[in-house]
Amino acid sequence: MSSPSVTRRHVFLGSLAAAAASKVQAQESEIRVAFIGTGGRGGSLIRSTLAQPAAKVMAVCDLKGDRLDRAATTTARDKPKTTRDWKEVLSMADVDAVYIATPCDLHVEMAIAALEAGKHVYCEKPIGIQPAEIGRLLEVARKSSKVFVTGQQMRSLTYRAALVEKIREGLLGEVMMVKAQRHSSDDLNHQGGSSDWFFDARRSGDVLVEQSVHNLDQINWLIGSRPAFASGFGGVMKWKDQPPGRTSMDGYTLSYEYANGVKVSYTNVFFHPAGLPGGGAYTYIYGTKGALDCDSCLFYPEGRGAQPIEAAKKPQPAENMNEKHVEAFLNQIRGKGKAPAGIEEGATGALTAILGREAIYNKRVMRWVDLGVNI
Ligand SMILES: NC(=O)c1ccc[n+]([C@@H]2O[C@H](COP(=O)([O-])OP(=O)(O)OC[C@H]3O[C@@H](n4cnc5c(N)ncnc54)[C@H](O)[C@@H]3O)[C@@H](O)[C@H]2O)c1
Repeated sequence: MSSPSVTRRHVFLGSLAAAAASKVQAQESEIRVAFIGTGGRGGSLIRSTLAQPAAKVMAVCDLKGDRLDRAATTTARDKPKTTRDWKEVLSMADVDAVYIATPCDLHVEMAIAALEAGKHVYCEKPIGIQPAEIGRLLEVARKSSKVFVTGQQMRSLTYRAALVEKIREGLLGEVMMVKAQRHSSDDLNHQGGSSDWFFDARRSGDVLVEQSVHNLDQINWLIGSRPAFASGFGGVMKWKDQPPGRTSMDGYTLSYEYANGVKVSYTNVFFHPAGLPGGGAYTYIYGTKGALDCDSCLFYPEGRGAQPIEAAKKPQPAENMNEKHVEAFLNQIRGKGKAPAGIEEGATGALTAILGREAIYNKRVMRWVDLGVNI
């Protein structure tokens, strides 16, 4: 049991901390937010937002009753409106910003309507799954005075930002090639919370667009360019008709040539046995002076016997990129800085993935210009 003096000291320190927190609250202007889609990702965005000062949840919206109830419970502090109608959320004058975390095929329509209703928008990745609709959103977002952030939260990793800086400063010499992968030992849950849309490529954009947009966006960022050409092959090889009607691939291999000449090789599979070496995800960048492992942050200089060098410090414990990304969104609304993934990064990331998907679907080399989007 703690002594009375220790207890009093804790109370004293606790009240100091509370006073400091309320000062932060008082200093920040309140931002009134709403969530459209409160499933797996929407739930995570709610938690990240509740961790921020001066963000008030005015509404939560979902078609599914259980998801809506859960969101209402998590946000009970703010007593938000609950609704199944996303247009009702956009008509609320006391909502400044909306988060969109619905299935991917709904993003563009909802994001355009939200911007047109005068709301700041945090739209989950991929911002869209077809080039033409992305072009439409790009046009509206560019003209809007409202903040648009896409959920490519890996852009909020400070160690990755430090690596980008090192690469720009010439750490690697001339960047020549990237080798990256995302290999899982199992498929996504066939009966999971997102299985009603995730395996349907018309709704998700295919797993390449839905998931690998993160990995491909990181490559775009690290090498400071976007593809000019893509080719690739893939399909459903192991998890045929699982779940029934599945159209989303379970394995594919992609090759890109970037506008700056860098060549990229990327694979994504859902059947890499757990015991087989070489699983998981990595991104290696090769330059004329050596190669960089973008996860360990180790740079391997050219030459026999050369020792790896730590190119950036990875924070320990790992930084919470989800919270940082939400914080950057709210800060940009308050006029403090620019969030690291806006409309241009969102559109370029989604289009990079779509270019690869179309190359695979059409079994031919696709050119960026074929996408027909002005970016
Ligand atoms: N940034 C990330 O790391 C990350 C991680 C996971 C998912 N995501 C993205 O977030 C989005 C949602 O994914 P999820 O895993 O949360 O899926 P989910 O299925 O768990 O949640 C989606 C929710 O949207 C609701 N919904 C569907 N249509 C709606 C409508 N018309 N109006 C209101 N609600 C509606 C569904 O009922 C469901 O609860 C997807 O775009 C996905 O790619 C991003």
